[in-house]
Amino acid sequence: MGHKMSRMYLPLAAVAAAALALSACGGGAGGGGESGGGGGGDAAANLDGRGPITYVQGKDNSGVVRPLIEKWNAAHPDEKVTFKEQSDNADQQHDDLVKNFQAKNADYDVASVDVIWTAEFAARGWLQPLTDTMKVSTDGMLPATVKTGTYNEVLYTLPQTSDGGILYYRKDLVPTPPKTWDEMMGMCSIAKDKGIDCYAGQLAQYEGLTVNVAEAINSQGGEIIGKDGKPTVNSPEAKAGLGNLVKAYKDGNIPKQALTYQEEQGRQSFEDGKLLFLRNWPYVYNLAKTDGSSTVKDTFGIAPLPGKDGPGASSLGGHNLGVSVYSKNKATAKDFVEFMTSKESEKFYATQGSLAPVLGALYDDAELVKQLPYLPVLKTSIENAVPRPVTPFYPAVTQAIQQNSFAALQGSKTVDQALTDMESAISTAVSK
Ligand code: GLC
Repeated sequence: MGHKMSRMYLPLAAVAAAALALSACGGGAGGGGESGGGGGGDAAANLDGRGPITYVQGKDNSGVVRPLIEKWNAAHPDEKVTFKEQSDNADQQHDDLVKNFQAKNADYDVASVDVIWTAEFAARGWLQPLTDTMKVSTDGMLPATVKTGTYNEVLYTLPQTSDGGILYYRKDLVPTPPKTWDEMMGMCSIAKDKGIDCYAGQLAQYEGLTVNVAEAINSQGGEIIGKDGKPTVNSPEAKAGLGNLVKAYKDGNIPKQALTYQEEQGRQSFEDGKLLFLRNWPYVYNLAKTDGSSTVKDTFGIAPLPGKDGPGASSLGGHNLGVSVYSKNKATAKDFVEFMTSKESEKFYATQGSLAPVLGALYDDAELVKQLPYLPVLKTSIENAVPRPVTPFYPAVTQAIQQNSFAALQGSKTVDQALTDMESAISTAVSK
């Protein structure tokens, strides 16, 4: 990255947008791309365009995307949607989108945008502002989710599914779930007696690690970037948070192999009955209940993430839908975005995939709550969730978190050193 901008922190967004507009360098995929000037495509072009489009999203673990696309295609024979399914790794999804936006690929019409990417993609001019003829309604959507789609007060991505961390636990072995991290660690003797692993989350070196480290830090009262835009990870709270994970790994309460776990590996271990506590997203609920191979169907429970003196803080996850500025069929793209976020589709995500709706009213729908008892816990998790840093330079920020916390877990850096290095790397990233 070769941005040369002032070392101002505020207003971060404005500085960042300018830096990105001037920048000729690429995103997470590493260089290449635009040859100087503007960047981004023509937001005024193809607004009336109708015809076939492609929808790009990470692996559909919950099997909810294809049925909806089939339904859409049956009703829109001249505006058919093709599903381009990416891998299940958030960083790879990001890099694939960056590569295709840089190539001005007109076939990436509608993309599933992780909540942490809106700022970067919008600042780079890759997303169609959802204004004027592209305007879509956010009525009834949880405000925190709408915020994740907004950059410089313009809506660029429309919330589709939210996400909040949940503690999955074995209620046959632990009658009352732990409220605090220390309590949970105290219960690891139960796992030991049973010969199973105690705790895992997403600790492989990718976006999931950033989520888990952010939660560990937030749950101890720390934050990653303060209100003034400056990193604050070199704090006693952050030390306590990262320290908890590092100690648990050293003690064996987090098993060795958990350092290779993304969402799916942890889910597998839990469904196999080999794990007492699992931090994961709501999608696991449905699969752990319905997978033929799940051995914990009737024996798992869910609880809020454990914190310092009580419930902890989840990172705010989720995915929004964005329309590429390079799309030739933006009118179709807009209709498809509305279809994928309709009340009916939102209900479908919840009932078929236990995904978190973005429509607040669905959490209080008595019938739905009866069928999906995890909804109240999930709503609490999402309402109290802490956004990861909002910045167009997010890729460099998450790298700083991932690399240094992974080094601390592996023992190649002390917790103190890791946080000192993390702080300076984040500081460099956001002040370009
Ligand atoms: C989930 C979340 C997303 C997060 C990712 C990390 O998909 O919804 O926000 O970045 O997990 O693995």
